[in-house]
Amino acid sequence: MNNTPNYVIAIDGYSSCGKSTFAKAIAALLQYIYIDTGAMYRAVTLYALNNKLITNGVANKEAVIEHLPKINVRFERETDGQVKTILNGEDVSETIRNLEVSKNVSAISAIKEVRQKMVELQRSMGKQKRVVLDGRDIGTVVFPDAEIKIFMTADPKVRAQRRYDELIAKNMPASFDEVYQNIIDRDHLDTTRAESPLTKADDAIVLDNTLLTPQEQVDWFLELVKSKG
Ligand code: DC
Repeated sequence: MNNTPNYVIAIDGYSSCGKSTFAKAIAALLQYIYIDTGAMYRAVTLYALNNKLITNGVANKEAVIEHLPKINVRFERETDGQVKTILNGEDVSETIRNLEVSKNVSAISAIKEVRQKMVELQRSMGKQKRVVLDGRDIGTVVFPDAEIKIFMTADPKVRAQRRYDELIAKNMPASFDEVYQNIIDRDHLDTTRAESPLTKADDAIVLDNTLLTPQEQVDWFLELVKSKG
């Protein structure tokens, strides 16, 4: 796309809706930077698991807060467009996708101090604009003035099937029922937590992609950008 505008594009929505696939595609199209904010919460969760700060799904909040200054999360962009998530110098891009992290991430992302640190990082990464961020609170909290806000949703069974196929393709152990239950649990936790719960911003446009291919979603987006003039 030529003469792309200088926007912040905020994409929020439920777990496993294809937010990152969509966000990456439109970032490539507009030559924007893509910021996967879920990966940041996942990296903190991995740190907490590795350091035994979570027991039976319950986070030791005080200990997590105490460790926060020692947790360094950043992204590394490869020349081929791949983005690596780096936790304290280590590439954790694959590990943060495992089911153990998925099961515990809601406990970590519910902690106010964790969110404050991540939001600050996200704002500094996006301040020059020309960014696409995906997450849960981007259009409501991180960038409430974003020029384009999209709220993504899809049928939970379809979302579970997509995530299950992804895990199997990567040789990561999973059962469909477990993946489905994790999605239902995370929807509940993400929408009901006290700190920045997942909710559609008033000015966000809904994209339900249950029946849409990735290309159809990109086409939908192009129409949306055109309509903005
Ligand atoms: O998008 P994801 O499934 O990788 O995100 C992992 C978890 O992180 C998700 O269950 C909720 C949390 N999250 C959040 O609270 N706020 C964000 N901006 C992004 C993710």
